Amino acid sequence: MPAHSHRLRFLAALVGLRPAAAGFSTAPSRGCPLHAALARRGGPVAAALTLYSRIRAAASPTPYTFSLLLASLASSSSPRSPSPDAGVSDRHAAAGLAHAQALKWGALAHTVVTNCLLKLYCSLGLLPAARRVFDTTGAAALDTVSWNTMVSGYGKSGDLEAAREVFVRMPERSLVSWSAMVDACVRAEDFSEALRVFDRMMEEGFRPDAVVLVSVLKACAHLGAVERGQWVHRYLEAEGFGRRSGNVMLETALVDMYCKCGCMEEAWRVFNGVRNHDVVLWNAMIGGLAMHGHGNHAIELFRRMLEKGFVPNESTFVVVLCACTHTGRVDEGKEIFRSMRDHGVEPRREHYGCLADLLGRAGLMEEAEVVLLDMPMEPHASQWGALMSSCLMHNNIVVGKRVGTKLIELEPDDGGRYVVLFNLYAVNGLWEDAKAVRRMMEERGAKKETGLSFIEWNGLVHEFRSGDTRHPQTRMIYALLEDMEQRLQLIGYVKDTSQVLMDMYDEEDKGSNLSYHSERLALAFGILNIPHDTPIRIVKNLRVCRDCHVHAKLVSKLYQREIIVRDRHRFHLFRDGVCSCNDYW
Ligand SMILES: *[C@@H]1O[C@H](CO)[C@@H](O)[C@H](O)[C@H]1NC(C)=O
Ligand SMILES: *[C@@H]1O[C@H](CO)[C@@H](O)[C@H](O)[C@H]1NC(C)=O
Ligand SMILES: [Zn+2]
Repeated sequence: MPAHSHRLRFLAALVGLRPAAAGFSTAPSRGCPLHAALARRGGPVAAALTLYSRIRAAASPTPYTFSLLLASLASSSSPRSPSPDAGVSDRHAAAGLAHAQALKWGALAHTVVTNCLLKLYCSLGLLPAARRVFDTTGAAALDTVSWNTMVSGYGKSGDLEAAREVFVRMPERSLVSWSAMVDACVRAEDFSEALRVFDRMMEEGFRPDAVVLVSVLKACAHLGAVERGQWVHRYLEAEGFGRRSGNVMLETALVDMYCKCGCMEEAWRVFNGVRNHDVVLWNAMIGGLAMHGHGNHAIELFRRMLEKGFVPNESTFVVVLCACTHTGRVDEGKEIFRSMRDHGVEPRREHYGCLADLLGRAGLMEEAEVVLLDMPMEPHASQWGALMSSCLMHNNIVVGKRVGTKLIELEPDDGGRYVVLFNLYAVNGLWEDAKAVRRMMEERGAKKETGLSFIEWNGLVHEFRSGDTRHPQTRMIYALLEDMEQRLQLIGYVKDTSQVLMDMYDEEDKGSNLSYHSERLALAFGILNIPHDTPIRIVKNLRVCRDCHVHAKLVSKLYQREIIVRDRHRFHLFRDGVCSCNDYW
């Protein structure tokens, strides 16, 4: 009802021609105070529409009026309304009205106005409406900005295919077009493609700017593509970026990239070189340290941040609680959790999840379960999933049975949920229960998420699935793995089958008894190709399984290699038979 009445009020504002206020009866021009007011951004929707109706009452609106109105609506805040949806539909209704008025006054003959309208629809996420305007406007009345707006609009809405379709048809591409396309790939999480698009952009002779480089660094961070990330860093230094202006967005992206690629010294150097820190940068550095098992440093840095007077935000607490989790600092974590409100941050779902994870991993599974049951919002399945991992780690069958059953109820299609409960039963010799879980999984046709690992070499990112045979070096990789297995057995490696039992149910494993997990294929590729003095860096989409963790430790010793694996949750630095996570992951 509120949305409806708002819309009616907008209509009234537009259609009811109020008498012009005294002193505002001059024809609209750049000097007109009403236009100046309309040019101010970020006001409520109703204010912009009211201004427009007053302009219209005074004289005919011009294309200039419409470009201001549309831009103002694109930047407008929703009126304070009981539900956010009402605000959204107000903005949609206002956009439709402004569009109709622009059409009526012939303003859409001007490319500038059309572009403002496209931007408005895109900013509201109304891509089909933007597309109709785009398609019905003659090609001659469109310019590069119009095309870029569509590419970027599709990209921001996560529709990579549509962005690409517009991008390839562009008669002419600018740096902004390429940048929008790289961004579209990053948002759609196709990071390898983002780097390929960036390469093509460079081949075409464009000089990257800060905007596109931030996207490229994000892609490098996700892929663990440190060579490429370092290239960006050198480029920035050579070009003197940041030196003059101190672009904290870029610096944060660099810190984040180095952290996610496991180069903590580099990250630290960049962090210390930044002149104007902000909370996002602190979060990146604290989070990076936490991920790498440097929980103590992370917490120290958090204390330093507070001393320097920076106000932590909700993300800061997520990373600090995570640091406590990875170092098993239960009391400190609880105290930090309690202090959140003192810093003006209301604990959210993820904070309760971090607290529960902290307790669960430290072996306090019952207490963790109480946190999840009592928190003011419904926990996510992933938060129960974290507790389930703890139950498996500490072999707590009582809590594990409750949590595992709940997880299957919550996500009946996720095969991984059955696998953990199966494993918990199997480890405890409860074969009947284990079989029942397996049967349920088969009956429901639930599938496990496919394991994927990435490894960068010579500027290329190589991707492996478990049991993959697509790579050109497949023969050599498998031969090395078999040889490795034999040599590892000599130094005491026993395959841990507790987690492997159910892995036989991976789709791609069927018909092959050489179903190595993806990270092992990537690891063998690394040993074959990467020089001895260079660490092997692998990024994996799932959590590293226990067997692969043991395996990687032994390989680091046997082959005297430094191996860095980033899994879904954290970093593992394997060196000389031990892992930086102290087997706590
Ligand atoms: C808090 O920091 C994160 C990055 O660490 C940022 O994405 C988020 O927008 C910040 N939140 C606020 C309210 O500023
Ligand atoms: C794979 O399975 C076949 C028969 O199913 C067997 O002959 C072969 O030895 C197995 N290979 C390995 C490496 O276990
Ligand atoms: Zn580890």
